[in-house]
Amino acid sequence: MATNTKRGFNSTFGAIMAAAGSAMGLGNMWRFPYICGKYGGGAFLMVYIFFIFAIGMVLMMSEFIIGRRTRQSPLRAFITLKPQQPKWRIVGVLGLLTCFLVLAVYLVISGWTVNYFWESLTGQLSAVGDGAYESHFMDFASSAIAPVVCLLIFLAINVVVVLGGVEKGIERVSKLLMPVMVVLLAILCVRSLTLEGASEGLRYLFYPDFNFLSGEGVLAALGQALFSLSVGLGVMIVYGSYLPAKDNLLTTSLWIVVCDLSVSILAGIAIFPAVFSCGLTPAEGPGLVYQVLPVVFNSMGSFGRVAAILFFLLLALAALTSAISLLEALTAGLSEGGMKRGKAVALVSIGSAVLASLASFSFGNGLLSNWHLFVILDKLTGTYMLAIGALLTVIFVGWFMKRDDIYDELSNHGTLKVGYFKVFYYFLIRVLAPIALLVVLIAGIVG
Ligand code: PHE
Repeated sequence: MATNTKRGFNSTFGAIMAAAGSAMGLGNMWRFPYICGKYGGGAFLMVYIFFIFAIGMVLMMSEFIIGRRTRQSPLRAFITLKPQQPKWRIVGVLGLLTCFLVLAVYLVISGWTVNYFWESLTGQLSAVGDGAYESHFMDFASSAIAPVVCLLIFLAINVVVVLGGVEKGIERVSKLLMPVMVVLLAILCVRSLTLEGASEGLRYLFYPDFNFLSGEGVLAALGQALFSLSVGLGVMIVYGSYLPAKDNLLTTSLWIVVCDLSVSILAGIAIFPAVFSCGLTPAEGPGLVYQVLPVVFNSMGSFGRVAAILFFLLLALAALTSAISLLEALTAGLSEGGMKRGKAVALVSIGSAVLASLASFSFGNGLLSNWHLFVILDKLTGTYMLAIGALLTVIFVGWFMKRDDIYDELSNHGTLKVGYFKVFYYFLIRVLAPIALLVVLIAGIVG
């Protein structure tokens, strides 16, 4: 505990950038636009926004409370808060396991992004030619060596940043990269909106067609809200343990949530009008970004090449600050158990590199295609483990943590006014969030 109290973010702005960097990632850039369109555009968006604030943000505040109160990683924090019931430790263990599995999947997709950034930089991507991007993507992602090399390059950058430390590595990189990302995204949005036929894409994204919003869509909205805010697996407990004592947990969380939501919407604005203006239809999952967008870039004339480079750079940077948070959470957990930080980083990196490589081999018609490991990991973490982690966390905070401790932490020992506490926070955390999460989980398991 002694070492942990010393380590932390140096400023409120840096802390927000680091946590927002964790939140804004691949989940915002390709997953959000695609599922938002699939489940009814504007209708999905409204449900999503409700979940983001009513459940996601409340969960984020709760993880910050646990982290900052104890200044520990999820492995110890739960026992510290509830020494009489050490079984709560399981939530921390589950969280770190989820981090490890999510990191493996994340590394694979990030590796693809590194490759596409490189190909757009060298001009190879535009040379592939319309009509061949689907096979180009599948050939690459299913091959044995190249995707693994790319994911290792990406992992190496992560390792350098995390070894740099919380303040000098993570905070510094996030403060620099987050504003750069927003500028890149804004440029792409402007370009996309000025294309002919852009309004059809905006309609697809924003028009609230409630006929498309199914029960499945509601579940997808909640799952997306958790994944996108990086909650339910303890990452925000670790970042909470690094938050400055003077920070207001409500406003910090609000900033992160608003940044994350804005980036998702901006990504949709950057992607859909462009896709529609080329007469293409939005494809499913990874395909949208890697198979459809290159066609869009080719149609933009000389700006297309620049747009492709900017887009894949943006995607890689967004993925980087998210992967960093996963690596840091695992490192913090292990080093709390007495392991040196460097050794912990090495161990997590090697383990996740091995798992990510296996997942990559199992993708498409790759070497181990019968394993379906990539798909299994993605589904297991995204659908079940995050929701279980989230449910256990809200139950713990709402029903097992001392109310006074929560109040004390949210009000910075009574120095802040927390008029919202009873209605907004305590009701949501004790009643609404657990019920909603339980319903989603049951529906997910049954359906
Ligand atoms: N929030 C990240 C995204 O939107 C993914 C992530 C999930 C990162 C969980 C860390 C922890 O891409």
